[in-house]
Amino acid sequence: MSFENLIETWPGEAVVTHYDAPTGTWMFIAIHSTTLGAAMGGVRLNRYPTPADGLRDAQRLAEGMTYKWAALGFELGGGKSVLAVSRSMSGPERDGLFERFGELIETLRGGYACGPDLGTTPRDMSVIARRTAHVHGVDGDGATIDPGPFTALGVVMGIRAALARVYGSPDPAGRVVLIQGVGDVGAPLARQLKEAGAKLLLNDLDDSKARALAKELDGEVVSSDAVVGMPCDVYAPCAVGATVNVRSIPRLACRIVAGSANNQLGEPADADRLHQRGILYAPDFVINAGGATALPLLGAHAATPEAIRERIRGFEQVLREIFEEAAARDESPEKAAQRRVRRVLTDRKT
Ligand code: PHE
Repeated sequence: MSFENLIETWPGEAVVTHYDAPTGTWMFIAIHSTTLGAAMGGVRLNRYPTPADGLRDAQRLAEGMTYKWAALGFELGGGKSVLAVSRSMSGPERDGLFERFGELIETLRGGYACGPDLGTTPRDMSVIARRTAHVHGVDGDGATIDPGPFTALGVVMGIRAALARVYGSPDPAGRVVLIQGVGDVGAPLARQLKEAGAKLLLNDLDDSKARALAKELDGEVVSSDAVVGMPCDVYAPCAVGATVNVRSIPRLACRIVAGSANNQLGEPADADRLHQRGILYAPDFVINAGGATALPLLGAHAATPEAIRERIRGFEQVLREIFEEAAARDESPEKAAQRRVRRVLTDRKT
C-alpha cells in the first residue's frame, strides 16, 4: 500500500512524518485516538522493506495503544512512533538520530510522549530526553527505567489466567512454555516462569542469545523454523507481531497463545481462526500492558515498584473475566476484550 492509501484508509487522527536526511531515516508518529487523553506509546526502531511498511506498523501499533490505555483505565490516548532506518546505527550517529527524534516530539508540545519499544532501549530514551521532557523510561535524575520485567509480570499473570481456563489450574509448574524472542521482555519472562516451575523452550533470531538463556535456565533452544509446529502448552510470542496468521494457525501445536508482542494477529479474523481450533488467545493489548502500566507511574513517582506490581497482578483477574465472557458467548477473547474497550471509549464520547 502507498502512503496515500495508508493515510486515506486509516481511522486514526493524524500522522506526523519527518525525513531525517543525515541518516536516511523516515520518522512517523501515528496518533490514533486522543479521546481519553494525550497520546502516549513506544518508539520502535526497525528496518522495513519500504517506508510505507514502517508507516503501516506505526498506525497499527498506535491503534493497539488506544485499546491498551482504555483497557487499563488510564487517561491517555493511543499513539506510537516508528523510526524506519535504512541500516543499523550505533554511537554518536545513533545518538544524533534520537536527539533529532526528540526535537520532533518537542514540536508537538506534549501531544505525544514516547517510551521504549522493540529496537529501542532505555538508554535511547535518555538521549531523547536531552531534547524533550515528553519521554518515559528515564526519571528526573536521568536514571533509566526498564519496563521489561513489568511487562513480563503481566504476561505471567495472563498465562496463569489462561492455564486456569484450559487446564483448571493457574499453576505454571510443569507446563511447557515456548518463548519466541528472549529480549527485554522474553528474558525476564523466562526467568519468572522458571521460578514458577515451568519448562522452557526458547527461541531468538539471535541463536546465541537463546542458547545463553537456555543454559542459565535449563531450557531448550528451538530454531526459528521450528517455532510454529512445536508442541507446547503455551506459545508466547515476545518479539515482532503478526506471527499468528492464516498460514501459521493450522500448524500451531499449543493450547494457549499468550505473549508480550504487540499485534500478534496478522488480521482480525485470526482471532476467530484460533477460537475455531480451540486455542485460547490472550488479547495482546491486555496481557502486554504491564510496561504501559509501569512507565507513566514510575516516571511521575506516582507509585512504588511494589504497588505497580500489585496492580499488574490484577491482570490475572481481568483476563479471567475476559475469558469467561468469551466462553459464555462462544467467541474469541479478542472480541470480548474489544467490547470492554469500546464501552470505555463510547462512555467518554457521549
Ligand atoms: N512499548 C511498550 C508497549 O507497547 C511499553 C510502552 C508503553 C512504552 C507505553 C511507552 C508507552 O506497551
